[in-house]
Amino acid sequence: MSKVTMEKIVSLSKRRGFVFPGSEIYGGLANTWDYGPYGVELKNNVKKSWWKRFVQDRPDIVGVDASILMNPRVWEASGHVESFSDPLMDCKNCKERVRGDKLIEGKLGVDAAVGKTLKEISEIIKDEKITCPKCGKCNFTEARSFNLMFKTHQGVVEESSALVYLRPETAQGIFVNFKNVLATTRKKIPFGIAQIGKAFRNEITPGNFTFRTREFDQMEIEYFIKTGTAVEIFEELKKESWGFYTGLGIKDEKMRFREHDQKELSHYSRMTVDIEYEFPFGWGELMGLAHRGTYDLTQHTKFSGEELNYFDPETNEKYVPEVIEPSFGLDRSVLTFLIDAYDEDEIGGENRVVMRFHPALAPVKAAVLPLVKNKEIITSKAKEIFNILKKDFATEYDETGSIGKRYRRQDEIGTPFCITIDFDTVEKDNAVTVRNRDTTNQERVNVDHLSAYLAEKIVK
Ligand code: GAP
Repeated sequence: MSKVTMEKIVSLSKRRGFVFPGSEIYGGLANTWDYGPYGVELKNNVKKSWWKRFVQDRPDIVGVDASILMNPRVWEASGHVESFSDPLMDCKNCKERVRGDKLIEGKLGVDAAVGKTLKEISEIIKDEKITCPKCGKCNFTEARSFNLMFKTHQGVVEESSALVYLRPETAQGIFVNFKNVLATTRKKIPFGIAQIGKAFRNEITPGNFTFRTREFDQMEIEYFIKTGTAVEIFEELKKESWGFYTGLGIKDEKMRFREHDQKELSHYSRMTVDIEYEFPFGWGELMGLAHRGTYDLTQHTKFSGEELNYFDPETNEKYVPEVIEPSFGLDRSVLTFLIDAYDEDEIGGENRVVMRFHPALAPVKAAVLPLVKNKEIITSKAKEIFNILKKDFATEYDETGSIGKRYRRQDEIGTPFCITIDFDTVEKDNAVTVRNRDTTNQERVNVDHLSAYLAEKIVK
């Protein structure tokens, strides 16, 4: 297996329609990316697998889909107006904007960077002579606090009274609906509320393709629990989160847990553990699991005046539940599945690129390929088979180019099965050749059994 690099992933993504640079015909917009035809299928499959595992398969978790624009008081209550910021510095020489803590982390490691004040960050950079990644000079402005929330105005007047933020996390859309969900579902604690949706952060240093962008999707759960049960539930959700990735084919040895140091914790967290993946550029956070305590519900009660608590009918106790939050980056997960699936091998003396996606994630599950395109008898049989399979599987019909080329194309988008219709199919045995993407082994399967054959091998 040859080494996967970010360059290879970016290039394959463009070539095969997974991810395109955003606004490309206008020269692009830095660090924006658009999912193409296969990318959107892959992303939808990741969402579907996540929603099934964490919402549909669990009696204790329900979903919501809240607005991106929320009352600005939400962000005062959540602490984001006050604390959701990074230390920004400008290079006086080349005008590059950098994150002071990341510069220190890059040279001296995470421990040297976490929990430092703006003044300390400026001093460390001077003392250690840490240089600008662009021009190599050490000549920065003092570090200042830069709030990451995007601001905009609602309505026709650009007054401060109409100021709204694009949400920087989906979590708050869940907390503000706690009471509504409780009243309508009559869930008993412990229970969770899940949401998948866009979040926006004006990141100072986005980069590494879709790893860090300013607009991204999150898949989050706020899991409400009784005080005293956190340790056990935290462990259970940690295991489930890990299992989400391994269940979709990521190997244990490519991931690790990393617990946050006390000084590194977000303003709302008592304890955070990340799952990290070994990306081509090093280990990076894939998702985070935080113990948010009663912070959010207490803050929203204070700011909204609405009591956000839980009445336990068995013990007649009324209390504010604590919260365990598994928070997954959807785009980061998609990137991880792209990287992890990438492989190169040699078939019959020819190099091939093959995306070894888990069948549940593969954008196309089966490709129907008539051996020749100019024989009606074969193409009409192939179309008939396509019409049967498409009812159950994301199926593609392709009659252009040599069969070898068509196999290569399907390998590059990770299609687990290619189905070839030939003269024997129509003249002899009503069977097709099914080629397995990973082994390239071929098997004759009767058309009448084809759907069942594929269903057994593909997790829909
Ligand atoms: N509600 C908690 C929360 O938002 P976070 O660690 O800031 O926690 C959760 O974000 C996940 O969202 C991260 O683990 C990551 O996968 C994803 N994420 C965060 N910032 C991102 C960005 N700028 N680009 C892409 N994904 C991002």
